Amino acid sequence: MTTAIIGTGGLGSVIARHLASGGETLRLSSADQESAQTLAAKIGPAAVVAVDNRDALQGADAVVLALRFGVLKSVIDEIAGPLADRFVVVPSNPVGLDAQGNVIRLLPEGQSSGEVVAGWLPAGTRLAMAFGTLRAELFESSSHRSPEPAVLFYVTDDDRAGQEVERLIRTAGFEPVKVGGVEQSSRLEVGGDLHDLVVGPAQARSLIGGS
Ligand SMILES: NC(=O)c1ccc[n+]([C@@H]2O[C@H](COP(=O)([O-])OP(=O)(O)OC[C@H]3O[C@@H](n4cnc5c(N)ncnc54)[C@H](OP(=O)(O)O)[C@@H]3O)[C@@H](O)[C@H]2O)c1
Repeated sequence: MTTAIIGTGGLGSVIARHLASGGETLRLSSADQESAQTLAAKIGPAAVVAVDNRDALQGADAVVLALRFGVLKSVIDEIAGPLADRFVVVPSNPVGLDAQGNVIRLLPEGQSSGEVVAGWLPAGTRLAMAFGTLRAELFESSSHRSPEPAVLFYVTDDDRAGQEVERLIRTAGFEPVKVGGVEQSSRLEVGGDLHDLVVGPAQARSLIGGS
Protein backbone atom coordinates (compact mmCIF):
# COMPACT_ATOMS: atom_id res chain seq x y z
CA MET A 1 0.00 0.00 0.00
CA THR A 2 1.05 3.62 -0.35
CA THR A 3 1.62 6.26 2.31
CA ALA A 4 2.18 9.96 1.70
CA ILE A 5 4.66 11.49 4.13
CA ILE A 6 4.59 15.27 4.26
CA GLY A 7 7.62 16.44 6.23
CA THR A 8 10.86 14.51 5.84
CA GLY A 9 12.86 15.96 8.73
CA GLY A 10 14.08 14.22 11.87
CA LEU A 11 10.96 12.18 12.52
CA GLY A 12 9.42 11.94 9.04
CA SER A 13 12.59 10.42 7.60
CA VAL A 14 12.73 7.72 10.31
CA ILE A 15 9.06 6.86 9.82
CA ALA A 16 9.59 6.73 6.04
CA ARG A 17 12.58 4.41 6.23
CA HIS A 18 10.83 1.98 8.58
CA LEU A 19 7.62 1.90 6.55
CA ALA A 20 9.61 1.30 3.37
CA SER A 21 11.51 -1.54 5.09
CA GLY A 22 8.14 -3.08 5.90
CA GLY A 23 7.08 -3.02 2.24
CA GLU A 24 5.12 0.25 2.04
CA THR A 25 5.54 2.48 -1.00
CA LEU A 26 5.93 6.18 -0.23
CA ARG A 27 5.19 9.57 -1.72
CA LEU A 28 7.35 12.20 -0.03
CA SER A 29 7.05 15.95 0.26
CA SER A 30 8.94 18.61 2.23
CA ALA A 31 9.10 22.38 2.30
CA ASP A 32 11.84 22.90 -0.28
CA GLN A 33 11.88 19.31 -1.64
CA GLU A 34 15.61 18.92 -1.03
CA SER A 35 15.23 16.80 2.11
CA ALA A 36 12.52 14.72 0.40
CA GLN A 37 14.85 14.11 -2.54
CA THR A 38 17.75 13.15 -0.30
CA LEU A 39 15.55 10.74 1.64
CA ALA A 40 14.04 9.20 -1.51
CA ALA A 41 17.54 8.57 -2.85
CA LYS A 42 18.44 6.73 0.38
CA ILE A 43 15.26 4.62 0.36
CA GLY A 44 15.37 3.67 -3.32
CA PRO A 45 12.54 2.72 -5.70
CA ALA A 46 9.93 2.39 -2.92
CA ALA A 47 9.90 6.19 -2.47
CA VAL A 48 9.02 8.90 -4.97
CA VAL A 49 9.19 12.66 -4.44
CA ALA A 50 5.92 14.44 -5.08
CA VAL A 51 5.76 17.73 -6.96
CA ASP A 52 4.13 19.41 -3.93
CA ASN A 53 2.10 18.59 -0.82
CA ARG A 54 -1.16 18.10 -2.72
CA ASP A 55 0.53 15.86 -5.27
CA ALA A 56 1.85 13.69 -2.43
CA LEU A 57 -1.71 12.54 -1.74
CA GLN A 58 -2.22 11.10 -5.24
CA GLY A 59 -3.06 7.42 -4.82
CA ALA A 60 -2.10 7.40 -1.13
CA ASP A 61 -3.96 5.08 1.27
CA ALA A 62 -2.59 6.98 4.29
CA VAL A 63 -1.17 10.44 4.90
CA VAL A 64 1.42 11.15 7.60
CA LEU A 65 1.85 14.83 8.50
CA ALA A 66 5.32 14.76 10.10
CA LEU A 67 5.34 18.51 10.66
CA ARG A 68 6.05 20.87 13.51
CA PHE A 69 2.84 21.82 15.26
CA GLY A 70 3.19 25.46 14.21
CA VAL A 71 2.95 24.68 10.47
CA LEU A 72 0.40 21.88 10.72
CA LYS A 73 -2.71 24.01 10.23
CA SER A 74 -1.36 25.85 7.21
CA VAL A 75 -0.44 22.58 5.48
CA ILE A 76 -3.83 21.06 6.33
CA ASP A 77 -5.49 24.14 4.80
CA GLU A 78 -3.28 23.82 1.70
CA ILE A 79 -4.25 20.15 1.11
CA ALA A 80 -7.79 20.30 2.53
CA GLY A 81 -9.51 19.41 -0.77
CA PRO A 82 -7.72 16.12 -1.45
CA LEU A 83 -7.44 15.37 2.29
CA ALA A 84 -11.20 15.00 2.83
CA ASP A 85 -12.28 11.38 3.43
CA ARG A 86 -8.65 10.23 3.83
CA PHE A 87 -6.91 8.51 6.69
CA VAL A 88 -4.42 10.88 8.36
CA VAL A 89 -1.75 10.21 10.96
CA VAL A 90 -0.40 13.12 12.98
CA PRO A 91 2.72 12.57 15.11
CA SER A 92 3.16 16.27 16.01
CA ASN A 93 3.75 17.25 19.60
CA PRO A 94 2.26 20.66 20.46
CA VAL A 95 5.58 22.12 21.59
CA GLY A 96 7.81 24.98 20.53
CA LEU A 97 10.55 27.20 21.96
CA ASP A 98 10.13 30.42 23.88
CA ALA A 99 12.38 33.48 23.47
CA GLN A 100 14.92 31.94 25.86
CA GLY A 101 15.01 28.66 23.93
CA ASN A 102 13.02 26.72 26.52
CA VAL A 103 10.56 24.07 25.33
CA ILE A 104 6.99 25.24 25.90
CA ARG A 105 3.60 23.68 25.23
CA LEU A 106 1.78 25.63 22.53
CA LEU A 107 -1.73 24.79 23.76
CA PRO A 108 -3.43 25.79 26.99
CA GLU A 109 -3.30 23.34 29.89
CA GLY A 110 -6.03 20.75 29.51
CA GLN A 111 -6.50 21.20 25.76
CA SER A 112 -5.55 18.10 23.78
CA SER A 113 -3.69 18.43 20.49
CA GLY A 114 -5.83 15.60 19.10
CA GLU A 115 -9.03 17.59 19.53
CA VAL A 116 -7.40 20.74 18.11
CA VAL A 117 -6.07 18.90 15.03
CA ALA A 118 -9.41 17.12 14.53
CA GLY A 119 -11.04 20.56 14.39
CA TRP A 120 -8.63 21.69 11.63
CA LEU A 121 -9.30 18.68 9.36
CA PRO A 122 -11.92 18.66 6.62
CA ALA A 123 -15.12 16.70 7.28
CA GLY A 124 -14.81 12.97 6.79
CA THR A 125 -11.07 12.79 7.48
CA ARG A 126 -10.16 9.85 9.70
CA LEU A 127 -7.54 10.95 12.25
CA ALA A 128 -5.13 8.96 14.36
CA MET A 129 -2.54 10.67 16.54
CA ALA A 130 0.41 8.28 16.42
CA PHE A 131 4.10 7.83 15.58
CA GLY A 132 5.11 10.83 17.73
CA THR A 133 5.34 9.02 21.05
CA LEU A 134 9.05 8.16 20.80
CA ARG A 135 11.92 10.47 19.91
CA ALA A 136 13.45 9.52 16.58
CA GLU A 137 16.49 7.73 18.04
CA LEU A 138 14.30 5.59 20.31
CA PHE A 139 11.94 4.82 17.43
CA GLU A 140 14.92 3.70 15.37
CA SER A 141 16.39 1.46 18.07
CA SER A 142 13.05 -0.05 19.18
CA SER A 143 11.64 -1.10 15.80
CA HIS A 144 11.45 -4.90 15.32
CA ARG A 145 12.48 -5.44 18.94
CA SER A 146 12.84 -9.11 19.80
CA PRO A 147 11.69 -11.35 21.41
CA GLU A 148 8.95 -8.99 22.60
CA PRO A 149 7.95 -6.20 20.20
CA ALA A 150 7.92 -2.62 21.45
CA VAL A 151 4.60 -0.78 21.53
CA LEU A 152 3.57 2.36 19.70
CA PHE A 153 0.61 3.98 21.42
CA TYR A 154 -2.07 5.74 19.40
CA VAL A 155 -5.39 7.54 19.90
CA THR A 156 -8.34 7.84 17.57
CA ASP A 157 -12.09 8.37 17.64
CA ASP A 158 -12.61 6.31 14.51
CA ASP A 159 -12.64 2.49 14.37
CA ARG A 160 -11.56 2.37 10.73
CA ALA A 161 -8.68 4.76 11.42
CA GLY A 162 -7.73 2.43 14.28
CA GLN A 163 -7.40 -0.50 11.88
CA GLU A 164 -5.49 1.63 9.39
CA VAL A 165 -3.01 2.97 11.93
CA GLU A 166 -2.48 -0.50 13.39
CA ARG A 167 -1.46 -1.75 9.95
CA LEU A 168 1.04 1.11 9.59
CA ILE A 169 2.44 0.61 13.09
CA ARG A 170 3.00 -3.10 12.42
CA THR A 171 4.55 -2.30 9.04
CA ALA A 172 7.06 -0.08 10.87
CA GLY A 173 7.99 -2.94 13.23
CA PHE A 174 5.96 -2.16 16.37
CA GLU A 175 2.92 -3.50 18.20
CA PRO A 176 -0.01 -1.03 18.25
CA VAL A 177 -1.87 -0.23 21.47
CA LYS A 178 -4.84 2.12 21.56
CA VAL A 179 -4.97 4.52 24.50
CA GLY A 180 -8.41 6.03 23.80
CA GLY A 181 -10.03 8.82 21.82
CA VAL A 182 -8.24 11.92 20.54
CA GLU A 183 -8.95 13.75 23.80
CA GLN A 184 -6.32 11.42 25.32
CA SER A 185 -3.48 12.62 23.05
CA SER A 186 -1.83 14.60 25.86
CA ARG A 187 -0.73 11.28 27.36
CA LEU A 188 1.32 10.57 24.21
CA GLU A 189 3.05 13.92 23.81
CA VAL A 190 6.25 15.37 25.30
CA GLY A 191 5.57 15.55 29.04
CA GLY A 192 2.81 12.93 28.89
CA ASP A 193 2.99 9.75 30.97
CA LEU A 194 3.26 7.50 27.88
CA HIS A 195 5.86 9.56 25.98
CA ASP A 196 9.28 8.06 25.22
CA LEU A 197 8.33 4.77 26.87
CA VAL A 198 9.69 1.61 25.29
CA VAL A 199 7.50 -1.17 26.66
CA GLY A 200 5.98 -4.42 25.52
CA PRO A 201 2.23 -5.01 25.04
CA ALA A 202 1.44 -6.35 28.54
CA GLN A 203 3.13 -3.45 30.33
CA ALA A 204 1.57 -1.00 27.87
CA ARG A 205 -1.93 -2.26 28.65
CA SER A 206 -1.39 -2.02 32.39
CA LEU A 207 -0.06 1.53 32.01
CA ILE A 208 -3.11 2.62 30.04
CA GLY A 209 -5.40 1.56 32.80
CA GLY A 210 -3.09 2.96 35.44
CA SER A 211 -3.82 6.68 35.33
N1 LIG B 1 12.25 14.45 15.89
C1 LIG B 1 11.76 13.68 16.86
O1 LIG B 1 12.51 12.96 17.56
C2 LIG B 1 10.28 13.66 17.12
C3 LIG B 1 9.77 12.64 17.95
C4 LIG B 1 8.38 12.61 18.21
C5 LIG B 1 7.55 13.55 17.64
N2 LIG B 1 8.08 14.53 16.83
C6 LIG B 1 7.17 15.50 16.23
O2 LIG B 1 7.23 15.36 14.83
C7 LIG B 1 7.05 16.63 14.22
C8 LIG B 1 8.21 16.84 13.24
O3 LIG B 1 9.38 16.91 13.99
P1 LIG B 1 10.82 16.84 13.29
O4 LIG B 1 11.79 16.70 14.36
O5 LIG B 1 10.79 15.83 12.20
O6 LIG B 1 10.90 18.30 12.66
P2 LIG B 1 11.90 18.79 11.53
O7 LIG B 1 13.14 17.99 11.54
O8 LIG B 1 11.98 20.26 11.64
O9 LIG B 1 11.14 18.40 10.17
C9 LIG B 1 10.00 19.11 9.77
C10 LIG B 1 9.75 18.79 8.32
O10 LIG B 1 8.61 19.55 7.92
C11 LIG B 1 8.87 20.05 6.62
N3 LIG B 1 8.01 21.19 6.37
C12 LIG B 1 7.99 22.40 6.99
N4 LIG B 1 7.07 23.20 6.43
C13 LIG B 1 6.49 22.46 5.44
C14 LIG B 1 5.49 22.72 4.50
N5 LIG B 1 4.84 23.89 4.45
N6 LIG B 1 5.15 21.74 3.60
C15 LIG B 1 5.79 20.55 3.64
N7 LIG B 1 6.75 20.24 4.52
C16 LIG B 1 7.11 21.19 5.41
C17 LIG B 1 10.34 20.40 6.62
O11 LIG B 1 10.77 20.51 5.28
P3 LIG B 1 12.34 20.80 4.92
O12 LIG B 1 13.03 19.51 5.21
O13 LIG B 1 12.31 21.10 3.47
O14 LIG B 1 12.74 21.92 5.81
C18 LIG B 1 10.89 19.19 7.37
O15 LIG B 1 11.11 18.13 6.45
C19 LIG B 1 7.04 17.67 15.33
O16 LIG B 1 5.73 18.09 15.56
C20 LIG B 1 7.56 16.93 16.55
O17 LIG B 1 6.94 17.35 17.74
C21 LIG B 1 9.42 14.59 16.56
